[in-house]
Amino acid sequence: MDWGMKNRLSQLIKEDGKCLFLPIDHGYFQGPTTKLEKPGETIKPTRGVLRACVNTENSLPIILRVSGGTSMVGKDLANEGLTTSIKEAIRLNASAVGISVFVGSDYEHQTRMNLSNLVNEAEEYGIPVMAVTAVGKELEKRDARYLGLCCRIAAELGAKVVKTYWCENFDKVVNGCPVPVVIAGGPKFDTELEVLEFVHDGMKRGAIGVNLGRNIWQNPCPVGMIKAIRAIIHENVSAKEANKIYESEKKK
Ligand code: 5RP
Repeated sequence: MDWGMKNRLSQLIKEDGKCLFLPIDHGYFQGPTTKLEKPGETIKPTRGVLRACVNTENSLPIILRVSGGTSMVGKDLANEGLTTSIKEAIRLNASAVGISVFVGSDYEHQTRMNLSNLVNEAEEYGIPVMAVTAVGKELEKRDARYLGLCCRIAAELGAKVVKTYWCENFDKVVNGCPVPVVIAGGPKFDTELEVLEFVHDGMKRGAIGVNLGRNIWQNPCPVGMIKAIRAIIHENVSAKEANKIYESEKKK
């Protein structure tokens, strides 16, 4: 792997091989998502935590979403194209670019070609591509057989990291995917413990980290959620221990 590519990946994946990504890209198809109406304000409290936890010599690396063109009120969320050039990603100093593929949808071929074309260009400049195995509104699709298929395909097309949903038997998804897998959260769960449990299970079954949005920044105490999840990822604590970290942060 070329130096630039390795260097960018090392900005995202820490020395222990683990990572915690905080996505705030939902507006690109959901509009002003709850608690993400003003993205700059949403990330303020979590920035503080990241400042406390991330080496100050490095600024926060960015994964720039470069697919889109659809909306919640449109006909089909899967009908995505590439929205941003690699030139623009470089100008914005992105550490990686993110793109969705909708396997099994009417736009499977189109979105897989989006990924292939993006990888062709991004590889030229040493930019890692993170593929998202998107399901649109069909959340019930999320099982190990389907997600395993999607992740493997995304990796075969050249993604350096794949972001997918957690599911039962998550090890089947990870084991069939030759590149690192990170877990997306989906809509907000009722309790913090449920989130911490699936993150813990996913990590135990081979994920390298999370890419969790709504279950962090829609929580009344996002800082507590980040600290709790970070402890599972980087300190290997149990879900219950992580929940205690959340509770103590919430009391402050
Ligand atoms: C939207 C995305 C999100 O970044 C991804 O779904 C993770 O966020 P959340 O945990 O809120 O689902 O890719 O297309």
